[in-house]
Amino acid sequence: MRTHTVDHPLAATLLTTMRDARTPNAVFRNALRDLTGILVYEALREAPVTRYEIETPVAFAEGVRLAHPPLLVPVLRAGLGMVDAAAELIPNAQVGFVGIARDEATHQPVPYMESLPADLSGIPVYVLDPMVATGGSMRHTLELLAARGATDITAICVVAAPEGIALLEKSDLPVRLVTATVDSGLNSDAYIVPGLGDAGDRQFGPR
Ligand code: URA
Repeated sequence: MRTHTVDHPLAATLLTTMRDARTPNAVFRNALRDLTGILVYEALREAPVTRYEIETPVAFAEGVRLAHPPLLVPVLRAGLGMVDAAAELIPNAQVGFVGIARDEATHQPVPYMESLPADLSGIPVYVLDPMVATGGSMRHTLELLAARGATDITAICVVAAPEGIALLEKSDLPVRLVTATVDSGLNSDAYIVPGLGDAGDRQFGPR
């Protein structure tokens, strides 16, 4: 699996805002939205385009559109805060959903919902989840997508842990990872260190 860590001063300042425990929920949500835009922009860097003719007010010119707009798949609940920014940049993208909670005792993913097109062959998929910690939720999501024929999957996250990256690498699923940072590792509660806490709680308040 290829991991691309986005190295940009603006991404680093937004990540700093998100890491800071004093950041209020609304400010955290705004920073996540803006950082998602940067991550999606980077993820699309080598996306193929189709050329077509347009007319400017002055002359004919060549225009481009994305040849294959990706399906966006936020992983609920934390991925919800990424979908608007991604959809704004790619207005013709379709959106699917996967819902996965986390068992706080075992740290295992607990899937509770999926709403995805039946056939994903030939369609690039961008999975949106701010945190790849153990990698369990991401692996489950990738398995759902691969079972529907997806072969071109990009996982877009804000913070990844080496443990999660190792799990995804071992799984041999067709995915590349775009992240703002790879942190030190997990603590005994499977939180990423230094991380930013629970990305769902930081956006929406504690459950
Ligand atoms: N999920 C989160 O939201 N934060 C972590 O640190 C780990 C998993």
